[in-house]
This record gives sequence, structure tokens and C-alpha cells, in this order.
Amino acid sequence: MILIVDDDVAVRTSLGLLLKQAGYPAKSVATPEEALRIVQETPPRLVLMDMNFSLDTSGQDGLQLLAQVKQVAPQLPVILITGWGSITLAVEGMKAGAAEFVTKPWHNDSLLQTIRTILSLHEVETETDPAALSRRQLDKQYNFKNIVGQDARLLHVLRNVGQVATTDASVLIEGESGTGKELIAEAVHHNSHRRRQPFVKVNLGGISASLFESEMFGHRRGAFTDAKTDRVGRFELANGGTIFLDEIGELDLSSQVKLLRVLQDRTYEVLGDSKPRRLDIRVICATNRNLAEMVQQGRFREDLFYRINLITVRLPALRERPQDIPLLVQHFVDGLRATYNRPALKIGARAQHWLQEQPLPGNIRELKNLVERAVLVSGKDELGPEDFQAQFQRAPVRTAEPGELPEPGTMTLDELEAEMIRRTLEHYSGNISRVAKALGLSRGALYRRLEKYAIPFDAE
Ligand SMILES: Nc1ncnc2c1ncn2[C@@H]1O[C@H](COP(=O)(O)OP(=O)(O)OP(=O)(O)O)[C@@H](O)[C@H]1O
Ligand SMILES: [Mg+2]
Repeated sequence: MILIVDDDVAVRTSLGLLLKQAGYPAKSVATPEEALRIVQETPPRLVLMDMNFSLDTSGQDGLQLLAQVKQVAPQLPVILITGWGSITLAVEGMKAGAAEFVTKPWHNDSLLQTIRTILSLHEVETETDPAALSRRQLDKQYNFKNIVGQDARLLHVLRNVGQVATTDASVLIEGESGTGKELIAEAVHHNSHRRRQPFVKVNLGGISASLFESEMFGHRRGAFTDAKTDRVGRFELANGGTIFLDEIGELDLSSQVKLLRVLQDRTYEVLGDSKPRRLDIRVICATNRNLAEMVQQGRFREDLFYRINLITVRLPALRERPQDIPLLVQHFVDGLRATYNRPALKIGARAQHWLQEQPLPGNIRELKNLVERAVLVSGKDELGPEDFQAQFQRAPVRTAEPGELPEPGTMTLDELEAEMIRRTLEHYSGNISRVAKALGLSRGALYRRLEKYAIPFDAE
């Protein structure tokens, strides 16, 4: 049974009808006292609660009832219904343990969607023993192709992903750069019922505030001066499927409001066309920033934060799971062996150990690049630590004072040369002609060395 708490009889009636038609038995009450009595006597599966009761419009009654319900039944999911104007209240409610909030006027479809999601999430949490599944068991249940690793922290993430994938819950993926956030976002989609629908990735870090609406919502020809043709927005492209909002921490405050509105109402308007359009979409966000901290600093909207983080997945850094490094290296080498048709290719045990000890701040992406470069540049079939050392971006010179040469025995001439090239590149902001001149090389000779050491550069 779903419990509806609202002092407005019209709301009670329409919600009651909606739930009944959707196959959920429901009970309606008008006061916090009655609500609390029912929660104690016949615990419902979910509570749908209005925040404002007639005598008091501050929402305090609602917050108080929420606190009491949570005390009696901590696991019982509560969805708050608030006016659009009182979103701060909703945020307070989320902090106090509400599962979700819905703003008035609600859309029947999205409200039902939210209810389904919350119910299935709740059932997932209470039914499964989270410690039980091994990697092999996980692979039997879900599709985690291409995601390598057995570390307990990673398995925890995969378990979560598997469980929430089938719901429509929004997922926030946090993790340092290169930890596999995009891979996890894809896994959520591939394990969901939307898997045959589009998965649209948007890098919010790459969209300027002035273009946000036109990129995301699309525009009609003539909507503004530069709108020469119609443009389909990313939301429309993703409709029916999943939208992956990458680098959400980079979004400026004005775009954050616009995004909140769509996620909230699941409707949007194409620029130059005032007809609102409905969206049926799963939202996954990722960031390598600490959003909670950004909220405290006033750089990220709190209401948007709660809108996107119904489920939060934190990816461990590679240094927290060094046992996975050999598996990952193996996986990358398997790929290279096939791609370059080099059946004898392998990584020696000493090299494996050496790799496990490196800090790898760029995480899995850095490891992958390192392996690829070492394989390509060395040309050998069995790679040793020295083949990786030569490719390693981290500069051992940093231990020396600027202007001093490193201690003998700490560095090879090749490493020294590579380091000097990197520094000169940085000094001249990548200007190849000036770098070549400063190093006393021809441009051709510099290019050969850049390739030899796999130093990234902008081709001129
Ligand atoms: N568990 C894993 N197993 C195999 N490959 C992985 C794994 N995690 C990440 N990778 C690979 O590492 C690279 C980086 O992963 P991904 O792009 O998902 O990271 P990210 O967290 O989104 O990074 P960024 O923050 O820089 O955008 C990709 O090539 C991806 O295929
Ligand atoms: Mg990424």
C-alpha cells in the first residue's frame, strides 16, 4: 500500500486515482497525526507526502512529519511533494532522509516513474546481501564486458551498478580522472531496459554558457541570429534512452538552473518553438570534482545536486586497487596482440611489479597509454621495466633543484633528454620551431625524438 498524505482533498483524490489505475493500492489521509498512526499500524511500501499543511505554509509540519516517519520506519521511502517555489524545503527534506522530491504541478507519468524507481531501489536494497557476489557471479547476472578488475572496492561498485541499472534512478559517478567513469556509465545503460535505445554523451565542460540551451534543447531556424538551420538538441537525441552528462561539475550556475528545470519537469522547449516537449530519459552524470564541497562553496546548486545523485557511485583510484594493475595490463596487452597481430607479445614479471609500484595519477587511462606506448616504441616481444621507464611521463628530475643536474645513477641519458624536451616544450608553450631552436635540433630531429619518447605535442 502507498500512503498519500495531503490536506487538499483534490490532491488526495487525484493521486489516489492515479495510483489505483497504475495498480498500486493506496490510502489517503489529511493530517500528520493520521499518517503517523498508519505508518505505525500497517506500514506502507512508500509514502507520498505534501510538505505544506493548511495552517502553516513554511513546510515545518512536513519536515516534522518526515522526521517522525523516519524515526518509526527508517527504511520506509518517502517522496515529498513541494511547490516549485519551495525547492529549498525539498532539499532540507532530502537531507532529512526523504528518498526523492517531486514539484507541483506534477506530471502523472513522471510521478509514476519516480514511484516505480524508488520502490525497486528500495526492494533491491532490502533483498540482496551486498557482500555475497563474486566477480564470476556478477558476470553471470550482468554484462560488464571490458570492465577489468577484482578488487573488493570495484566489485562493490559493479554490484551497485548491476542493481540500480534496471531502475530509472539517476546515477552520479564520481572518481578521479581516468578511473573508468565513462565505462561505468555505459555499463549502467547496457544493463538497463533502455539498452537498445540511444546512449548520448555530452561533455558539459565543452559547452559554453551561451550555447547551452541550443546544444541541449535544440533550436529552430531563425531563433537567434546565428541559427541558420534547425538543430536537434542532445536531449531529443537521447529521448527514450540515456543521457550521460559528463563533467557536470564544470557547468556554470546559469546553465545549472536550466538543467534543473528539465530534470525536474521532464519537459523542455526548443529555442524558437514554445511548444513544451516531454522527455523520457535516464540521466547519468559524472565528475572528477567533489560536488558536495562545491555545493558548500556555492558553486554548485544544492537542489540540482540532490536531483542527480539519487544513486552515487564512487570509483576507486588505481592506487587504491594496485592488485588490479596486472589484470589491466594483461587486458591491454591482449588487445594490442590482436590489433597488431603480434602473438608473442607479453609483459615480463619484473615489469608487472614495477608498474604496480608507480603512482599513476592518471589512473587506468595513464596505465593504458603507458602500455600502448611501451609496446609500440620498444618493438620487443617481451617487455621489461626499462621499456616502461622510458615512456613514463612522470619526471624523475623533479627531485633535483632547478638548474642542477640529477644525481648520477638516478637517470639515464635518454630520460634526461626526454625530460629536457618536455621542459622546453612547456617553456615555449609547445611552439615546435622555438623548441627545436633552443635545443639545437632541426625540426625533423625534434619530431623524431618526440615520437621516440611519446611526448604529446601539437603538430603545426
Ligand atoms: N576497469 C577497467 N577495465 C578496463 N579498462 C578500463 C577500466 N576502467 C577504465 N578503463 C579504460 O581506461 C580509459 C579511461 O576510462 P574512462 O574514459 O571511462 O575514464 P574517466 O573516469 O571517464 O576519465 P576522465 O575523468 O579523464 O574523463 C578508457 O580507455 C577505458 O576503456
Ligand atoms: Mg570521462
